[in-house]
Amino acid sequence: MRRDLRGRVVLVTGASRGIGRRTAERLARLGARLALSARSQDELAKIVGECRALGAEAEAFPADLTKPEDRARIVGDAVARFGGLDVLVNCAGVGSFGEFSTSTPDIVRRSMEVNFFAQAEMIRVCHPHLLKSAANWQPAVVNVASICGRWGIPSMSEHCASKHAFVGLTEALRGEFARYDIDVLLVLPGVVRSDDLNRHMLRNDGKIYLDFDGAQPPEEVADAVVRSLLTNRTEKACGTASWWVWFGKRMFPRGVRFFMQRKVWNWHKAEGERRKADKPTA
Ligand SMILES: NC(=O)c1ccc[n+]([C@@H]2O[C@H](COP(=O)([O-])OP(=O)(O)OC[C@H]3O[C@@H](n4cnc5c(N)ncnc54)[C@H](OP(=O)(O)O)[C@@H]3O)[C@@H](O)[C@H]2O)c1
Repeated sequence: MRRDLRGRVVLVTGASRGIGRRTAERLARLGARLALSARSQDELAKIVGECRALGAEAEAFPADLTKPEDRARIVGDAVARFGGLDVLVNCAGVGSFGEFSTSTPDIVRRSMEVNFFAQAEMIRVCHPHLLKSAANWQPAVVNVASICGRWGIPSMSEHCASKHAFVGLTEALRGEFARYDIDVLLVLPGVVRSDDLNRHMLRNDGKIYLDFDGAQPPEEVADAVVRSLLTNRTEKACGTASWWVWFGKRMFPRGVRFFMQRKVWNWHKAEGERRKADKPTA
């Protein structure tokens, strides 16, 4: 199956930067009609301008997706503006990098609030409109989760919890929505070079070596999101690291566990050596 997105209404959350922004640009080139959402109005206005310059119809729908009234408002406004809804790309999210023992209840709750509850409730609000679209097309929900939703990465505990919940929901809904002809697709990025790591992360003091500088560019993930939508790919682990963890979990889970533990040990060893080197000599 191959989807033609020309003239189709796509709501992209997390569209102000990173993966969501690049996804919006790619969808604009394919002739989709775009409802773009995030909290930052100025950044949204810029990306709306860029999409229009590419010849696409695009509109900004600013919202804090953790608020039920915002979710209902933007979906209602987008449907009123475009006359329906064919695809939801759930891409808003936050990261959290640090050990669970030194974290706070607020960080766990915020991770779940943005990465799980907001996305889950967006699907619920969009469902009746996707159902209408199914009368003459094959609508879809694309959930941009993370490889953290398939394997618990040390120092990303609350992030992994929120993404596992999101992946579980995705799999369950895939079965539930099949009878409505609504596809539920899953994209699993690895470590991605966010536009602004400080805004993306609720905390950034993890004790495992993850290469954020050498990470995957958001453009590559956006390509995977759009390809998944075009070809109706159920699940895509993007990037080499993500693919190896995804594949390794199936084929040699003990090897992946050992690899993760080594990364933690190596971080502590390097930290010990750094401390020794910093100690002033008497
Ligand atoms: N970066 C990575 O290493 C990585 C790896 C795997 C998976 N992912 C996942 O991929 C998705 C996109 O990540 P990214 O790297 O593109 O991150 P990003 O550059 O930080 O973008 C996150 C987007 O989510 C929006 N957002 C955050 N909180 C929101 C809220 N309460 N309401 C509405 N919008 C909100 C942000 O917009 P505003 O701030 O303007 O609201 C922004 O547009 C996330 O779900 C993330 O967990 C990222």
